[in-house]
Amino acid sequence: MRTLRIPRRSPADPGAPALTIHAPAKLNLTLDVLGKRPDGFHELESLMVTVGWYDTLTFAPAERFELSVTGAAGVPCDERNLVARAATALAHAAGREPAAAVTLHKRIPHEAGLGGGSSDAAAALLGLNELWDCGLSREELRDLGATIGSDVPFFLCGSPAGVVRGRGERVEPVDPGPPRWAALAKPPIGLSTAAVFAAWGGRESARATEQALQVYGTAGGALCAATANDLDGPATELEPALAAEQAAFAAAGLVRSCLSGSGTSRFALCRSAAAARSAAAALRRLRPGPVAAVPLAV
Ligand code: C5P
Repeated sequence: MRTLRIPRRSPADPGAPALTIHAPAKLNLTLDVLGKRPDGFHELESLMVTVGWYDTLTFAPAERFELSVTGAAGVPCDERNLVARAATALAHAAGREPAAAVTLHKRIPHEAGLGGGSSDAAAALLGLNELWDCGLSREELRDLGATIGSDVPFFLCGSPAGVVRGRGERVEPVDPGPPRWAALAKPPIGLSTAAVFAAWGGRESARATEQALQVYGTAGGALCAATANDLDGPATELEPALAAEQAAFAAAGLVRSCLSGSGTSRFALCRSAAAARSAAAALRRLRPGPVAAVPLAV
């Protein structure tokens, strides 16, 4: 299992170091929005991969639930945080109190379309399932994860790449494929996921996932050309400043760039780690906000 690494720890040994999990961000290499469903969510098809940009969580025994967050200002520690929601949901499913000391070190930007909160929630389900010795199966954790957020099941699928369908709860793991890198940038503007989906307004899908899957296992530039996101246009209509991000990527030599999820992060696949690093350096000069050169499907 490569998506989340869990060192085993004996609950009988209180002196053992806290259980630590590195929770990766994700990119949507494609995002097809196929229609609005009666439940208000949207039917999706998306090729998702983890990327080498991580939050870090630790889990230790405690008398009550305590969540502390470092690395980012203004991140809530109560039930607005998906980690707290995951703890409550798992404790409820296991018929126990949610007693644990959890630390969350944030590095993944939020309102970025990078799935940081969802990955944290998935890590919390995995970590607390271990700490509390609940014995829930991967499938049971995935079902629980789907009640917390649409992106959570992907992070519990056991593979760093997958095709996601439905509202996000149906995940088909995909082989990680050849080594790949992306340049990734988050502008200092955020957008609400719900607002971006509402702005989509029923337009026709580019249906890029099928095409991307056909070339996903191959090296070379075909996958880069297949990246597409049906929410790119709606997000830019809501926040016209996002057009400058696309222009900055083009100025950095990255003609094909793509929004991740509902934004506001943008990425472009690069032909090597060195190319990703040099594109990231150019993006840092051209625009404000965090930039990273990241490996895919880690
Ligand atoms: O599931 P999650 O809490 O991440 O979704 C946030 C919002 O994004 C939802 O309330 C909904 O408005 C929108 N959404 C959607 N269709 C999806 C996933 C999310 O409309 N498949």
